[in-house]
Amino acid sequence: MSREAVLLVSVGASRRDAEPWIAALAARLPGLRVAALGDDVDPAAVRYVAAWKPPHGALARLPSLRAIFSLGAGVDHLMADAALPPGVPVARVVDPDLTARMSEWVLLHVLLHHRQAGRYRRQQRESRWADDAVQPAARAVRVGVMGLGVLGLDAAAKLRMVGFDVAGWSRAPKNVPGLASFAGPDGLDTFLARTDILVVLLPLTPDTAGLLDAALFRRLARDGRLGGPVLINAGRGGLQRESDILRCLDDGTLLAATLDVFEREPLDRASPLWRHPAVTITPHNAALSDPDAIANLIAGQIEGVERGEELRHVVDRGRGF
Ligand SMILES: NC(=O)c1ccc[n+]([C@@H]2O[C@H](COP(=O)([O-])OP(=O)(O)OC[C@H]3O[C@@H](n4cnc5c(N)ncnc54)[C@H](OP(=O)(O)O)[C@@H]3O)[C@@H](O)[C@H]2O)c1
Repeated sequence: MSREAVLLVSVGASRRDAEPWIAALAARLPGLRVAALGDDVDPAAVRYVAAWKPPHGALARLPSLRAIFSLGAGVDHLMADAALPPGVPVARVVDPDLTARMSEWVLLHVLLHHRQAGRYRRQQRESRWADDAVQPAARAVRVGVMGLGVLGLDAAAKLRMVGFDVAGWSRAPKNVPGLASFAGPDGLDTFLARTDILVVLLPLTPDTAGLLDAALFRRLARDGRLGGPVLINAGRGGLQRESDILRCLDDGTLLAATLDVFEREPLDRASPLWRHPAVTITPHNAALSDPDAIANLIAGQIEGVERGEELRHVVDRGRGF
């Protein structure tokens, strides 16, 4: 690797946000200068970019750019940039550390709804011993996972291990033993009609934006053992219509919702979602990217490219994920 080549890191609003990433990447890539966006860098020296939500236009006019690495599994933050250099491959994070974190979050929140944690929290606050609630077995609860990619398949496998009756929905059908698979717009109705807990791990693309609306919630199962359908979204906020979620919680179309992602982040303090008794909120941290794990992945990718190997986990820019 030439001494002058630069890996440009763009994370957050200030250089401080980028520093843990710069340190982790520089330690693994001694042959590259690792710099932050905004540092004094010759644009022609920039060979790679590692970015999370870079300012639109910031990656244009880098003539030697060979690859752009998203610092997360999602790439909607890059695809939304009309000035993203067209010929440059974009690679995303596919990493067992991130996948395990997401499955942990999914299991936790599915189990909290399944085991009626909200009810027992209320009872405890009231010092009230009431053991008359019916607790269905996991096998009697139908979980539907929207998005059967790296994250969806791992979460589905772990949910099955706990005993839930799990199905999945994706663009193309999947052949996974023990997992009922539904695909495309034609498979959506049947998938929703057999879903008590809907877990969303879809990417945000032009095809999925706004998919989680009242019309979709009305197609979820009404005959489940939990008393109503539950929404759990850790995909992206742009998938959901928050006004529809609130309306459907209030009119009984939805029993409860757990949301990690929001139409606008951070979620406005004035949003009624914060105070709704049937809503659980986590601050888009279902599966954070660990700088060390992700730096290992990116360093391995760069070393491979420099050896002439193919870049892995490349996004199809036509389909948007
Ligand atoms: N909240 C967090 O902390 C956090 C962390 C990481 C990731 N995420 C989100 O999770 C998303 C999924 O990550 P991943 O690694 O699992 O992605 P992935 O491997 O690319 O999988 C995406 C899945 O979505 C399906 N899909 C895409 N468009 C569809 C459509 N129009 N209709 C039906 N299915 C569609 C794909 O179907 P096919 O398999 O048929 O192509 C695939 O199964 C990311 O894009 C990101 O937004 C959130």
